[in-house]
Amino acid sequence: MRMLLVAALLLSALTLDQQHGREIYRRGKFAGSAVGTATIGAEGVPLPSSSFACATCHGIWGEGSRESGIEPPSLVWKRLMSPAVSPVTSRRRTAYTPETLRRAITAGVDPSGAHLHPGMPRYSMPDERLTELLAYLERLGDDDDTDPGVTATSIRVGAALPLSGPLEPAGRSIRETLEQLFADASRNGGIYGRRIELVVEDSGGTAAGLLEATRRLVAGDRVFALVSSFETAGDMDAGRLVETAEIPLIGPVALSPHDKNLPNAYVFYLLPSLYDQARAVVDFIAAKEAPRHPRLAVIYAGTALDQDVVDGLRSQAARDGLEIVSEQSDVPSAVTTVLARQANYLVFAGDGAGLARVGRELDQAGNGPVLVGFISTAQSGVGQLPPSVAARALFAAPALPPDTRQASAFFSLLQAGHSPRTYLGLRTSAFAAGSVLLQALRSSGSRPNRDSLVGTLERLQHFETGVTAPLTFGPNRRVGSAGAVVLALDPASHDFVVVSGWIAPKN
Ligand code: HEC
Repeated sequence: MRMLLVAALLLSALTLDQQHGREIYRRGKFAGSAVGTATIGAEGVPLPSSSFACATCHGIWGEGSRESGIEPPSLVWKRLMSPAVSPVTSRRRTAYTPETLRRAITAGVDPSGAHLHPGMPRYSMPDERLTELLAYLERLGDDDDTDPGVTATSIRVGAALPLSGPLEPAGRSIRETLEQLFADASRNGGIYGRRIELVVEDSGGTAAGLLEATRRLVAGDRVFALVSSFETAGDMDAGRLVETAEIPLIGPVALSPHDKNLPNAYVFYLLPSLYDQARAVVDFIAAKEAPRHPRLAVIYAGTALDQDVVDGLRSQAARDGLEIVSEQSDVPSAVTTVLARQANYLVFAGDGAGLARVGRELDQAGNGPVLVGFISTAQSGVGQLPPSVAARALFAAPALPPDTRQASAFFSLLQAGHSPRTYLGLRTSAFAAGSVLLQALRSSGSRPNRDSLVGTLERLQHFETGVTAPLTFGPNRRVGSAGAVVLALDPASHDFVVVSGWIAPKN
């Protein structure tokens, strides 16, 4: 029991009441819902308290602000508890007491009985919530008024990774890379004097495991942010959890971002969607074959990712003036139909086993279309393609293969950590995600908090990791890169060779 109490104190210097008060201060909410109403001016209509969070006017650390003509004053406790002059009305007031402070918030009256400027809303909320808000105001802006996971000397970051089961080696290589990167960044003073501490929870590589591991990181380990969590195809629950908990997740390792729906404000993907990869493939073919207009065909399996490919092909083929002469789900007669329609390129959207099977059918038919596959979903089938098909096949990849010159920071890290050059795709993803997080922490100032981390990430432009395309986010952009690079197979060595630069699809 005692151990637990000590641990809780170390994890957050704020009491539970104060933490609730902070949510009211920053968001106008308690447990995700408005706590009451806020009214501006004598004739004002009461609006949900969440429309007038204190922090929007008084600043996240209660420092006050100078925006929009009126200057909401600093709410630092020492100032409230001393006589002061209003920067807005120049009226002098005496010191507040907890009772007069409540009255200022609910009735807009200062301790001397004068009305505050009407720019300060009047709030109506349950007494309990007001008590919590006051408990927080007492700590607002203190050195230890930090977000969970942040202390004067450390920032705790979490990753949910498969550390058991068949995906264990994948999880291990991501963990190793992040540990090396953060150890490196923590040397020589770290980030504003804080070292980066990695906490990893085992997801077992399943959707249910990912949700549980994320929950442990958020609620138990109380991490500040998440990085490189290993997503399972089709899973949305863990994403929803980070969204409600408002915890930034940077660079989840995923086959393709879930960017079809409204983007999740807290999840920042680095690598392009299959939709944009498919569009880049069409641009590549159109440019390579110009002025001819090659005939495209697509065979797709049943997942949402495969549908993304089809949608991307359709939209870009229409743009580039190419015809899709056959569009079929992955049924036994599909290849026969493609051959009958005399397609020049057959794009396959499905997994590795499907790619290999379509490759064998094309091989039996002789000189058919060029087969095009996607590394993100079908890499496992590449090695099983018959030589005649493999020799002409093309593959779209979400990032350039790491080249020792561009990616020198990545390779130095591998070398310094004596890491094997296995799982390079996963290691580069983890390296990129960790680098983005470090960059965002460096530029979001000496008082790390999740709101400013999200704001900083939104302003990231053309950030070079050396192992991905340059990354750009924005207020409505949660996927850092769009496009693909096209690879072919070297017939002798069976290694991939890069046959294009980075292709950003034309709009
Ligand atoms: C829309 C902007 C706005 C919001 C939102 C807002 N305030 Fe204010 N607040 C002001 C302004 C402007 C003043 C200055 C009034 C004056 O000096 O007459 C003020 C003054 C105050 C004062 C009096 C300070 C003093 O020195 O006398 C307190 C206390 C206060 N606000 C607390 C809060 C709390 C707590 C919240 C959230 C529940 C909040 N405010 C939300 C704009 C805002």
